[in-house]
Amino acid sequence: MKADLIVHNIGTLVTSRELEKKSKGDMENIEILHNAYLAVRDGKVLALGEGNIPESLKEEKTKLIDAKKKVVTPGIVDSHTHLVHYGSREDELPLKIKGVPYLEILKQGGGILSTVRKTRKATDEELFEKAFGVLDRMLSFGVTTVEGKSGYGLNLETELRQLETNKRLNENHPIDVVSTFMGAHAVPDEYKENPKGYIDEVLKMLPIVKEKKLAEFCDIFCEDAVFDVEESRHILKEARKHGFKLKIHADEIVSLGGAELAGELGTVSAEHLMAISDQGIKDLYENNVIANILPATSFNLGKDYAPVRKMIDTGLTVALSSDYNPGSCPCENMQLVMNIASAQLKMTPTEIFKAVTINAAKAVKRDDTVGSLEVGKNADFVIFDVENLNYIFYNIGINHVKDVFKLGEQVLTDGEVSYV
Ligand code: NIG
Ligand code: FE
Repeated sequence: MKADLIVHNIGTLVTSRELEKKSKGDMENIEILHNAYLAVRDGKVLALGEGNIPESLKEEKTKLIDAKKKVVTPGIVDSHTHLVHYGSREDELPLKIKGVPYLEILKQGGGILSTVRKTRKATDEELFEKAFGVLDRMLSFGVTTVEGKSGYGLNLETELRQLETNKRLNENHPIDVVSTFMGAHAVPDEYKENPKGYIDEVLKMLPIVKEKKLAEFCDIFCEDAVFDVEESRHILKEARKHGFKLKIHADEIVSLGGAELAGELGTVSAEHLMAISDQGIKDLYENNVIANILPATSFNLGKDYAPVRKMIDTGLTVALSSDYNPGSCPCENMQLVMNIASAQLKMTPTEIFKAVTINAAKAVKRDDTVGSLEVGKNADFVIFDVENLNYIFYNIGINHVKDVFKLGEQVLTDGEVSYV
């Protein structure tokens, strides 16, 4: 079969294909090729390898792109974001700088609840336009798949509007959007005196969301003064009965036992884990739960980082994501997340690329189609304007992404979005 497109003269090709594992998580075991080519046909990877392009792949109309010895990687998967919401919260910055804790701002009716008020008032068009702009910027940093959670509606109508916006974004933007229902993100103002009543509301939303096919995953904010372990267990178990795959915001700020619950339920992933216990790490390992780490949130909140080296040494499968949201982490830049992972979490470039490609794809159950460049998988890839992988983690704070391809189509050209 002949290729539509061949990228050749690639200095370093991170395929993210997993090689034979030396331990259970083995964060270093991805394939990295040198002096390589990547051939695409009908939006899928047709062939790849080291050395010259095999003549058998070429025909007259095959488009050739010279990568000029630069780095090519799979499209980055941002597997944890709170994509659709309205407004911003820079008004909380002085409080944050003075040291008022994140959960205290929430208790006073600010934080998530202030975004809920703005999101409920926003029109569908406003929600769509804001998130569309965010996706363009994420794309410019090399992201081709994004997970997005609801959780700023906290009533049926606006939760559904958020999830419908995810669907519309998925259909209209080159980035794939994986949708997660997170009605249990906080207790809304109107249920302040009756939080159990809100849990009943969430339970009623589950079958409606599922019937409308608006979300694959269900997530919950298991946190001190938000939803405790028992409530989280109840909601997640009900969600599973309705066919949702499970995620949990666990041990983000207070060590509550969220990771232990993730292990008990065998969720797909547990998110944040800044305050995880040793038992929690063991439970995630034994139950094959992916540890989804969000270091830009720790950076932005001035909190401790999750104990990633300990997790990797234990053998956990670690993913890295942005946690893009209007409060704890208004960050659309996955390269900043990767820079923080290098400098602060002491992850190696190989571990980081594994965490933002194949492991992140596993965290959203898309590893059959994205997350690595292998024959038959989607031709989603990024050309970084650098000569080796280390450079991305050495020259920090700037965007090294030059070109992005989604299903073999160029959607970012010289740093500018270029899809039609
Ligand atoms: O993942 N932890 C809960 N949710 C978000 C923050 C949401 C917000 O502050 O608006 C998070 O950090
Ligand atoms: Fe989050």
